Amino acid sequence: MKTTSNIVFHQATVTRNRRELQNNHRGVIIWFTGLSGAGKSTLAHAVEEKLHQMGCRTFVLDGDNVRHGLCRDLGFSNQNRMENIRRVGEVAKLFMEAGVIVLTAFISPFRADREHVRDMVGNSDFIEIFCDSTIQVCENRDVKGLYKKARAGEILEFTGITSPYERPDKPEVIVETGRLPLTDCVDTVMESLETVLTLFSSDYINKDLCTDSVKIS
Ligand SMILES: Nc1ncnc2c1ncn2[C@@H]1O[C@H](COP(=O)(O)OP(=O)(O)OP(=O)(O)O)[C@@H](O)[C@H]1O
Ligand SMILES: [Mg+2]
Repeated sequence: MKTTSNIVFHQATVTRNRRELQNNHRGVIIWFTGLSGAGKSTLAHAVEEKLHQMGCRTFVLDGDNVRHGLCRDLGFSNQNRMENIRRVGEVAKLFMEAGVIVLTAFISPFRADREHVRDMVGNSDFIEIFCDSTIQVCENRDVKGLYKKARAGEILEFTGITSPYERPDKPEVIVETGRLPLTDCVDTVMESLETVLTLFSSDYINKDLCTDSVKIS
């Protein structure tokens, strides 16, 4: 059901650029994808901790948490997984427009759904991080006991067992979360963010950032 035909977008005067200038860094989406237990949440929060300590505005959107609220009405069918990621993409975009570095930790198993979010915001605003871990490692970890339940047939449509996971073709970053210690993975992600964070102070900052402020009479 589409209901957007009579809706007109209201332009904000406090723009994304002005928010970013105030934050002293750009807004961006850092999208972690990988199997359950690959380490997305652990890595996303560890990276957030670093960024926070550097004075950045950050927020983690985490799969399980979002499914308790915004997406509590959704299950795990392909259709529902797609809708889950669509909503998360829209929310992540709002955070990004607020000038926040938003880190998302979702299995997001389908390439097309991740690409949809990328297309929505553009390549420079979307950093896809593939948490690369074999199913064996994830299953051995089985932090939540879900693999055991899936093998016992107690959970249907479980990614990697009874539901597919599509590896990213060209992620911006691959981190071997199944093989390397967390600190190494954090370093890899932080290195990949260097250009994003410094971009702001060079090219990006010159783009009329200081000219779009509005007088409130
Ligand atoms: N290099 C690493 N990066 C991240 N996690 C790691 C790493 N090495 C080991 N781990 C461990 O792997 C487990 C991964 O759990 P985590 O909950 O982060 O996975 P997840 O990908 O978010 O899974 P889910 O999709 O089920 O939420 C944690 O116990 C974590 O300590
Ligand atoms: Mg998680």
